[in-house]
Amino acid sequence: MPLVELDAIPQVPLDFINADHREEARLLNDLAEAVTALRAGRGDAAAVVGRFEVLFRHTREHFAREEQAMRESGFPPYPMHQGEHERVLAELAAEGRTFDETGDADRLWRYVSTTVPSWFVNHIMSMDLVTARFVSSRG
Ligand SMILES: [Fe+2]
Ligand SMILES: [Fe+2]
Repeated sequence: MPLVELDAIPQVPLDFINADHREEARLLNDLAEAVTALRAGRGDAAAVVGRFEVLFRHTREHFAREEQAMRESGFPPYPMHQGEHERVLAELAAEGRTFDETGDADRLWRYVSTTVPSWFVNHIMSMDLVTARFVSSRG
């Protein structure tokens, strides 16, 4: 079962952001599948690391696209939204390093199955929604 149902992701009034969120969820589900396999003794750590890197790169690009739209439209709470992106990227990078060093699949599973999905949905329904409304109202 996927962690995030692609069709249940909250929508915002900007198509490129919805497309990024769909891809983010797809990559998160791919990573979750690899971590599940590893914990069940059917997978390997290299597959987890590979999928983690793909998710990390996409997250960085997804955030950068939102930040560019915020700058171009003069979105006043830009520093708050950008700062939250920075915090999450740092947290993701730290979890990735911890997994590289310890190979602790149970810890990674807790992060990937709980922390990230709940953050993702909350972030979309708060900062991304407000941003998309502002940017789309500016044409
Ligand atoms: Fe987003
Ligand atoms: Fe965002």
